[in-house]
Parts: sequence; structure tokens; C-alpha cells
Amino acid sequence: MPDHKESHIQAPLFNTAAKALKIQCIAYCALLLAACGGGDAPTRVQSESTSAGRSALAASPHSAPSTPPLSLSAQVGQKLFFDASLSASGAMSCATCHDPQHAYGPPNARAVQLGGPKLNSAGLRAVPSLRYKLATPAYSNEQFDPDGAGAPAPGGGFTWDGRANSLAEQAALPLLSPLEMANASPEAVVKKVQAGAYAPLFLQAFGPQAFANGATAFANITAALQAFQKEDPSFRPYSSKFDLYNQRGLGKLSTAELRGKAVFNDPNSGNCAACHLPDLNQFTDHLFAAIGPPRNSAIPANAILSYMDLGLCGPARRDLKPAHAKEANPYCGMFKTPTLRNVATRSVFFHNGVITSLEQAIRFYNTRDTNPEIWYPTVGGKPVKTPSADFPTYGLITQQYRGGKVQKFNDLPAKYHANIDTQMPQDGRKAGSKPPLSEQNIADLLCFLKTLTDDYVAPASEPSTGPCVN
Ligand code: HEC
Ligand code: HEC
Repeated sequence: MPDHKESHIQAPLFNTAAKALKIQCIAYCALLLAACGGGDAPTRVQSESTSAGRSALAASPHSAPSTPPLSLSAQVGQKLFFDASLSASGAMSCATCHDPQHAYGPPNARAVQLGGPKLNSAGLRAVPSLRYKLATPAYSNEQFDPDGAGAPAPGGGFTWDGRANSLAEQAALPLLSPLEMANASPEAVVKKVQAGAYAPLFLQAFGPQAFANGATAFANITAALQAFQKEDPSFRPYSSKFDLYNQRGLGKLSTAELRGKAVFNDPNSGNCAACHLPDLNQFTDHLFAAIGPPRNSAIPANAILSYMDLGLCGPARRDLKPAHAKEANPYCGMFKTPTLRNVATRSVFFHNGVITSLEQAIRFYNTRDTNPEIWYPTVGGKPVKTPSADFPTYGLITQQYRGGKVQKFNDLPAKYHANIDTQMPQDGRKAGSKPPLSEQNIADLLCFLKTLTDDYVAPASEPSTGPCVN
């Protein structure tokens, strides 16, 4: 059974000299340290993540407090983040899609959000959480694999395809995207800030001439948004049950949660840890992988059959090509491994939001290969009137067919199917064979993933019955 590392080195392109690996390592480790404020190990719980801070945040997302106080730049960033006047519609801020009450993820169950001047233009991808992004390195084709043993592989960068190398670079994208905040130009954004209530704060932060040059002012706007996301502890509270248990030794995980943790880590069962790496406490290795989630017809852009979101190979980015023009592009279908922190607070999953519950996500991992007919459409078959008793009902396709052909990986052209990752639990086993995880494994894994939700409040006494206990 191939493991994560092997799957990433299948293309010769990803082989690198040890030297490059070392450089990447140095860069990566330096970044991790910088990200954690003056050399704090990322595994350590930040002292600012107090419950007082959290409840104040809950009371007013506009006044998330922090210790030490935010820099002037970050204070400007905080105003910008919640300012709906910075959109063409006048009704959409960063927080509309990245809601602090939802771990800075989407507040609703839409696969993609509606933006644009009239708030009726559908986006192309699911909204990621903005929590725990600090350790994200800049994009590289040969990113150091933080679990140590693996060869360098595509990794890093912001957005699902890593095309923004910093939070500042990223912030320009939604401000100018016609599907999101839809400003016509950077200058249009600057004008709004200059006319707004916190223009004096902006001048205080960036100098009396801060509005003199449009390009510089816009660069400072994106720098301020970056500073807010970097400095405000609400972006990295480390306050989940897992943190209390794992880091502070305050609570303890239940028997069921511990079993789930074991499934998560076991290379021969869940194997989630291979990519959603828990070691550095981020629950991602920042690397890219092609998992092949089904095409989502709820995304209006997908009505055009020739449109396909291929992640690293486009259409949002076009810079990554195969080593030889005639080869199939090895980057197609790859998306960034998201952190699983706060994943239980989400209503839609994967880059296209096609999966609609956490349990369904786990079941997709478990039965994508053994029961592709419940995840991908079948063509040419005969619908079965009364499904057989063992036909699973938890998939995306609830109609059983006799005969026909399952369109496996229907959101990725066949020539790129070789890019699909083939390690546990999706190790390419035959349709109809036994899924790797048992019902008990699935239930336990779900319990464990729920311990990664921030703002955990320990009960006065541990329950002795109920779900996720024994
Ligand atoms: C209309 C909804 C919407 C709005 C408004 C919005 N975003 Fe996003 N955000 C998204 C989506 C969708 C993505 C994923 C984009 C992609 O992969 O191409 C994203 C990605 C990001 C990421 C990258 C996260 C990661 O995991 O790599 C950051 C950071 C971010 N947004 C910050 C912001 C900031 C700052 C603002 C305000 C200036 C903002 N967003 C406004 C929808 C939105
Ligand atoms: C080969 C690496 C790899 C392995 C192994 C892996 N994942 Fe993932 N995971 C990814 C990638 C990459 C994505 C994003 C794929 C996409 O959107 O196309 C993802 C997405 C997810 C999501 C959606 C999160 C979100 O914010 O939308 C969940 C939930 C998830 N994985 C859970 C798991 C669990 C549970 C396991 C173990 C049973 C697991 N993963 C194993 C790489 C992996």
C-alpha cells in the first residue's frame, strides 16, 4: 500500500536534491517560529487565548480584545475586516463570509457564497476557515513535508490552490473579485477608506501622507488585514477540548474520543494524520493532494460542462505546468489539505462544498473506492425500483442502478486520474470490496474530530453516558 510520501513522488518532477529539502526545512521552521510570536513552539497554548478574551469576542466581533494590544496596523485591519462599505454592494465585509462566530468560516450551508455588486453572483469555491493559518509557508512545488520522512511536494500558500503567498497578497483577491467584494480597482477601495470613519487611524498607522499614493495606500490596506489576522488571538485560540487535554492536561478525552484519535493516527486504518498532520498542532501538513470529491451541481459555474476547477493547474492559477509539454499535468486535481481544527463547525466540506456533513465526509473517505456508485453518477444503467437492503443511504446518490457505468472522479478529466492520491483510507481498493473503516471506527473518528472545536467549556462533571463517551 503506497503511503503519503510515495504518492507525492510519483512524478519525477517532485524529486529534489537533499539541499533543497534542507533549505525548505530551514525556511519552514523559521516561519513556524515567526508565526508563533517570538519563538514560541506552535504546540504551546498561547497565553492570550483566555476565556475572557473569547467571551468578549462573542459579545462583539468588532471589538475582539487581545493581549498584547493590537498594533496600529492590526487595529486598522480589524476595522477593515468588518467594514461592509468596502464592497460594491455596500453589504459585504470579509466577516460576511469569514464569520468569527463560525471559526472565521462561512455562517451558512451554501456550497459557495453570493457576492458581487448585487450580492447575486455565486462564488466558485467553499469558504475556508481563517483560523490557524499562521504556519502556512509560501507556496512551493517542493515544500518540505513537515512529518519529516516525506519527499518535498507541492505545498503552502493561501487559498485552495496556494496562489497567494501571504495573507496580504490574499486580501487583495476578495476586495477586487467581481464575485466577492467587487471593487473596480485598488483606488476605489482606498477612496472608501479615506472617506470612512477610521481614516484618522489609518493616517496614524501609516503616516500623514498615507493616502497620497493609491498603490501604496492599497498595499497598506492589505498589510493591515494581514496584521489583524496575524496578531489577533481570536485567529488561534487553541481552546478546543483537544487542546485542554493534549496541551494543558486539564481535561481528558473520553474513551470513544481516544479510540477516534487512534483511528485518525493509524496508518493502516484512518490514516488521516498522514496529511492532516497533528504533530505541529495545525492538523494539516500544508501539502496538496488530489482526493477527487464529486462534482457539485450546486455551484452555478458547474452548469457549463467544460468548466472544471482543477486546483493547482487552474483555472484560478495557470503557472504550474508539466515538465514536458506532452505529459499530463501532474498538478491537476490537487487542492490544499485544510486544517481539521473547527471542522465540526462547518456545514459544507471540500473545495467545492459537495459534502454536507462531517459524518458524510468520513464516509466519503471510507467508501469512495468501495462504493463509488453512491458518490458519483451512473450513466446507462437501469434505475432499481426498490433498492436492495444493503444499498447505503448516506452517499450523494441515493438511486440504485442495475448495470451502467459509474463516472468516478467526475470533476477531473480522465487523463489526470493518475494524480489521485492512493493511500489509506482511499487506497484504490476495488468497488464492492470491504471498506477500511468499521461503523465503530467512523463513530469514534467523528467523536475525535469534534474535540477540535474551539471555545470548549468543560462540563462540571464528565458525563458517564451519551454519544462520544464509552
Ligand atoms: C464572498 C465571500 C468571501 C468574502 C467576502 C471574503 N472571502 Fe476570503 N475566501 C473566500 C473563498 C471562497 C476563499 C477560497 C478562495 C480560493 O480558494 O480561491 C477564501 C479564502 C481566503 C483566505 C485563504 C485561506 C486559506 O485557507 O488559504 C484568506 C486568508 C481570506 N479568504 C481572507 C479574506 C479577507 C481578509 C477578506 C476581506 C478583505 C475576505 N477573505 C473576504 C470567500 C470570501
Ligand atoms: C492524502 C492526504 C489526505 C488524507 C490521508 C486525508 N485527507 Fe482529508 N483532505 C485532504 C485534502 C487535500 C483535502 C481537500 C481536498 C479537496 O477539497 O479537494 C481534505 C479535506 C478534508 C475535509 C474537508 C475539510 C474542509 O474544511 O472542507 C475533511 C473533513 C477531511 N479531509 C477529513 C479527513 C479524515 C477524517 C481523514 C482520515 C479518514 C482524512 N481527511 C485523510 C487530504 C487528506
